[in-house]
Amino acid sequence: MKQQNHAIKIQASLLACDMGKIQEEISATDPFVNGIHFDVMDGQFVPNLSFGAPVLQHLSTTSELGFDVHLMCENPDILLESFVKAGAQAISVHFEACPNIHRTLQVIKNYNVLAGVVLNPGTSYHAAYEAIKFADYVLVMSVNPGFGGQQFLPEVLEKIRKIRKNFPDKIIQIDGGINTKTAPLAIKAGANWLVAGSAIFNTDDRATICNRLRNTI
Ligand code: DX5
Ligand code: ZN
Repeated sequence: MKQQNHAIKIQASLLACDMGKIQEEISATDPFVNGIHFDVMDGQFVPNLSFGAPVLQHLSTTSELGFDVHLMCENPDILLESFVKAGAQAISVHFEACPNIHRTLQVIKNYNVLAGVVLNPGTSYHAAYEAIKFADYVLVMSVNPGFGGQQFLPEVLEKIRKIRKNFPDKIIQIDGGINTKTAPLAIKAGANWLVAGSAIFNTDDRATICNRLRNTI
């Protein structure tokens, strides 16, 4: 079990793909990644808008891999059911956006979907300790949420080390600025699910970039 949780998985963030041919982009990437990361932005919690459940519904038949949904939204509770119905296999909600985080995670789990809690760069590991205990996975943001293509914040590595030390079996996902330079740092600190947008979609050679992100070559 421990081994399985620590297996490195690469998840492609669709934010950076060519939106004009999103299905082709997924098909061209699917063979080299372990999952597709679906970033939902509401223009309130973050100063940007992206896509919602009807888009996921349309795409979830395209990928043979699972979609993990990252809800960068105020009051994510009202969205959970629609994303489950649209085909999400994992859903993460921001610690900062959930006054009843334990209940929200429980609702996600009750749908038989993996429940994740997300920590912004400014959110302390200590504040979120109880929520992490209850979540299936913790997503540590390595940029401020809202935009792809930002620079990795190395300060979050210390937070990952602390989580890994206290939760040896927890899935730790990292998101933002992951590339061939930062992926090894994240893995060394204890992250095992790596989200990458620009690094994957800004190159035509998806096989090489994904292998390098996994640190295998
Ligand atoms: C940021 C999103 C990320 C983003 C990652 O708000 O949650 O998933 O798309 O993009 P890159 O890999 O370009 O930093
Ligand atoms: Zn994300």
